[in-house]
This record gives sequence, C-alpha cells and structure tokens, in this order.
Amino acid sequence: MRFNPLAAFVALGAFCISTTTAFPPYAPLGGLSARQLEEIVPTLDAKVPPPPPGPPSFTGAQLVDDKDHPWRAPRPGDQRGPCPGLNTLASHGYLPRNGVATPTQIIQAVQEGFNFDNLGARSAVYSALLVDGNVVTDLLSIGGKTRLTGANPPTPAIVGGLNNHRTFEGDVSLTRGDAFFGDNHSFNQTLWDQFVDFSNRFGNGFYNITVASELRFHRIQQSIAENPEFTMLGLRHLTAYGEAALPVNLFVDGRKTGSYKGQLDLESARSFFRDMRYPKGFFRAAQPGGGEGADVIFLAHPTSPGRNNGTVNSFVVDDSLGGILDPCKFYTEFVNTTVRGLYPSPTGVLRRNLDINLGFFYDTIASGLPDCPQVFPYGPV
Ligand code: HEM
Ligand SMILES: *[C@@H]1O[C@H](CO)[C@@H](O)[C@H](O)[C@H]1NC(C)=O
Ligand SMILES: *[C@@H]1O[C@H](CO)[C@@H](O)[C@H](O)[C@H]1NC(C)=O
Ligand SMILES: *[C@@H]1O[C@H](CO)[C@@H](O)[C@H](O)[C@H]1NC(C)=O
Ligand SMILES: *[C@@H]1O[C@H](CO)[C@@H](O)[C@H](O)[C@H]1NC(C)=O
Ligand SMILES: *[C@@H]1O[C@H](CO)[C@@H](O)[C@H](O)[C@H]1NC(C)=O
Repeated sequence: MRFNPLAAFVALGAFCISTTTAFPPYAPLGGLSARQLEEIVPTLDAKVPPPPPGPPSFTGAQLVDDKDHPWRAPRPGDQRGPCPGLNTLASHGYLPRNGVATPTQIIQAVQEGFNFDNLGARSAVYSALLVDGNVVTDLLSIGGKTRLTGANPPTPAIVGGLNNHRTFEGDVSLTRGDAFFGDNHSFNQTLWDQFVDFSNRFGNGFYNITVASELRFHRIQQSIAENPEFTMLGLRHLTAYGEAALPVNLFVDGRKTGSYKGQLDLESARSFFRDMRYPKGFFRAAQPGGGEGADVIFLAHPTSPGRNNGTVNSFVVDDSLGGILDPCKFYTEFVNTTVRGLYPSPTGVLRRNLDINLGFFYDTIASGLPDCPQVFPYGPV
C-alpha cells in the first residue's frame, strides 16, 4: 500500500492543501472539518451517482476463471483488503486491478464473477460507500489503508477503503486478525489453521454452515477473551454472520450438486482467502445468492451485539446500533448516528451525493422491511 503524506496530514488534523499534491480520489471525506471539506471538495472530480445496475439477464452457473479474466498478482500500489471476494475479482480483472472502483462496477463484478444476488450486492456496496468510500467522486477502495511512517510511536493514518476499522471492516473475521492486534486485513496463517481445524472437526474436511456456526461462535469467544477493545455493534453484528455464510454459497463451484452442494473444499477456500484467486476452471454459483444461512449460524449460538468494556472478558451487551435481530434499528442508527457522525453538516455536491446514496441504500432496506421508515438525516430531499 502506498504511503500518502497528504492523507497522513488529514488524519493528523494538520491538513494543509498544496497545488502540487492531490487528495486521493477514493479516500472518504467522513470526519473532515468544514474547512477541510471546503478546500478538498472543489479539487475532486464530482460525479452524479447513477442508479444501481439491475441483475444480469443470465444468472446460471458459468465458467468465470476464463481467458478474458486471467489471474495476475497485484502490482505495487494495487490495493487489496479484508474481503476475499472483492480481492479475487480485482486480481482477475472483473474489477479494476488497482482495487479502486465505482459502486456500479462492484455490483456488476460481484454479479458476473460470483452470482451475488442484486439486492445483497446493492446493500453491501452502498453501506460500504457511505462509510468507507468517497461519495463525491463515487469511488471506493477495496483496500485503501495508508500508514504514516516515521512517527514515534508509529501513528496509523487510516484514509479509508474497506480496511477502515469499525466502519465496515470489523473484529472477529474468520481469517483476518482484529485491528487491536495490528493487522486487520491480511490473511493470517494461524487463523487459517483454525479454519482448517474446524472444517475437519465439524465438516469432515469441508467448510459448511455447521462449521460456519461453530467457527463464528469460537472467533467471538476468542476476541472476548483476548481483545480488550473487541466490538461487534450494528452493521458488524449483521456482517459477522453474513460473511460466515458467503463462502458456502459463493465459493463452491456451481457445478456441484446433491450432497456436494454447500460443502466448500479447503483447497478452493485457501485459493480465495489466501491467494485471491479462483480455483482453476471455477464456475460461479448456479443461482444468485449471498448470505443465506446467516440466520442458522446466528441461532446456533446467538450472541447479542456488544463489546468488551476496556479489558478482556468484560463483554457487555450494546444494542444501541441495532443488529441482526433488529434490522430497522440498525438501518435507522446507521444513517442517523454512523453516517451523520461522519458527515454532520454536508453542503453542496457532498450533501446531494450523500442524499442520493442514502436513497439507494434505503431501497435495499425497504424491499425487506417495508414498514421501516426512511430516515432523512439532513432534512427533506
Ligand atoms: C458487494 C460488495 C462487497 C463488499 C462491499 C464487501 C466488503 C467486505 C468487507 C469490508 C469485509 C471485511 C469484514 C471483516 O471481516 O472485517 C468482507 C469480508 C468478507 N467478504 Fe466481502 N464484500 C463484498 C462482496 C463479497 C463477495 C461477492 C464475496 C464472496 C464471493 C464476499 C466474501 C467475503 C467473506 C467470505 C468475508 C469474510 C472474510 C473473513 O472473515 O476472513 N464478499 N467483505
Ligand atoms: C489495520 O492494520 C494496519 C496494517 O497492519 C495497521 O497499520 C492499522 O493500524 C490497523 N488499523 C487499526 C484501526 O488498527
Ligand atoms: C495471526 O493471528 C494470531 C491469533 O490471533 C496472532 O497471535 C498473530 O500475531 C497473527 N499473526 C500476524 C502475522 O498478524
Ligand atoms: C457439514 O458437514 C458435516 C460432516 O459431513 C455434516 O455432519 C453436517 O450435516 C454438514 N452440515 C451442513 C449444513 O451441510
Ligand atoms: C464498564 O466500565 C466502566 C468504567 O470502567 C464502568 O463504570 C461500567 O460499570 C462498566 N460497565 C459494565 C456493564 O461492566
Ligand atoms: C436522529 O437524531 C436526531 C438527533 O439526535 C433526533 O432528534 C432524531 O429523532 C433522530 N431520528 C430518528 C429517526 O431516530
């Protein structure tokens, strides 16, 4: 990941723009002061966010490791992050190989490359854009962390992208460590060994929903016991369960049927999680899908949204941002607390684009929760 001195200054609150440097067009604007926004926003190439693409016309199994999408190792400067699905799509050229993309590109890529369902794709991408992307340029980095080197002690300067801790990226990932332990986005061999161990013990050598249920619970117990700053609130409570189901639905070759369905072999799993690469000759899922089974994983060992209270083993329930059992509260607080906290009083194109993207996100909520009213944090639009 590149070191970007300008971004580092932004995070230090000592921002000072010069005509020779540019604010990275994918870096989020959330958390910047009104004065910083006044300086930065005019330098950006502002877009009007287009409506999200619909589902593709063909949604069956299909060879996706094809000759038009060869795997290539990321080059220096290419961004990769905590999501094995998006990392793989970038390394095969379904997404721009540099790891920076528009919501439209991401929705099209996850549909084409994995048969991710349209609703799930829209919901994931607009929630991510609102907290980790740049809503003015309509760009999101799938990695996007920049670190200020040279400071003593080293100061992490997170400029956004999906590595942005406590927004979309979070604790208790299956194959990535908690941010508290230093590296929150890279494949971790120790955690991978645990993934293999659980797949052997509960899945007879395959990762399935039963394995996902046990491993998800175990990762939560681990973080409660080891990470004094463990948090799993709101969006993270939902995604922690959804992400444990995604490999079962989308990493299994679409030609597998009968008793092989929903059983992910470990060689394929490692190819996605570690190598960001399709298994050779991979066919995408035979029908659109995503987080199916997340409810089963949750109900196997229900854990409320919550956090440790500054020390290990001090878990306290905290449903102030909702969670998997209260998705309307999650939506309301996500908009009214999380997004509004990042952007307290936006103006101009920033306000316009926030309102448009909040509308695209609400559409995904309304289709499942028709009685959950839309929230307009900045007043009527
Ligand atoms: C639609 C756009 C998507 C967005 C914005 C997105 C974003 C993310 C983010 C931010 C994380 C990190 C959360 C964390 O563990 O801290 C993540 C994890 C994950 N994503 Fe995605 N993702 C998307 C699509 C996909 C697709 C299509 C797949 C599978 C084909 C996928 C599979 C996964 C898995 C398995 C994890 C969990 C990794 C782990 O726990 O080690 N995602 N995603
Ligand atoms: C995430 O990991 C990176 C790389 O190890 C680290 O520099 C950064 O501080 C971590 N983020 C947080 C919020 O801890
Ligand atoms: C991987 O995770 C383990 C267990 O949480 C941790 O002890 C180890 O330091 C991590 N390794 C790296 C390279 O971050
Ligand atoms: C997962 O695999 C184990 C071992 O084969 C099996 O007992 C269990 O029923 C499977 N679970 C699912 C949901 O397929
Ligand atoms: C959390 O910690 C604070 C301060 O240390 C303490 O006052 C509070 O009672 C704790 N809450 C719970 C539920 O343990
Ligand atoms: C949003 O937050 C404001 C300020 O805290 C509050 O007045 C308003 O009732 C909240 N709206 C919703 C829908 O919760």
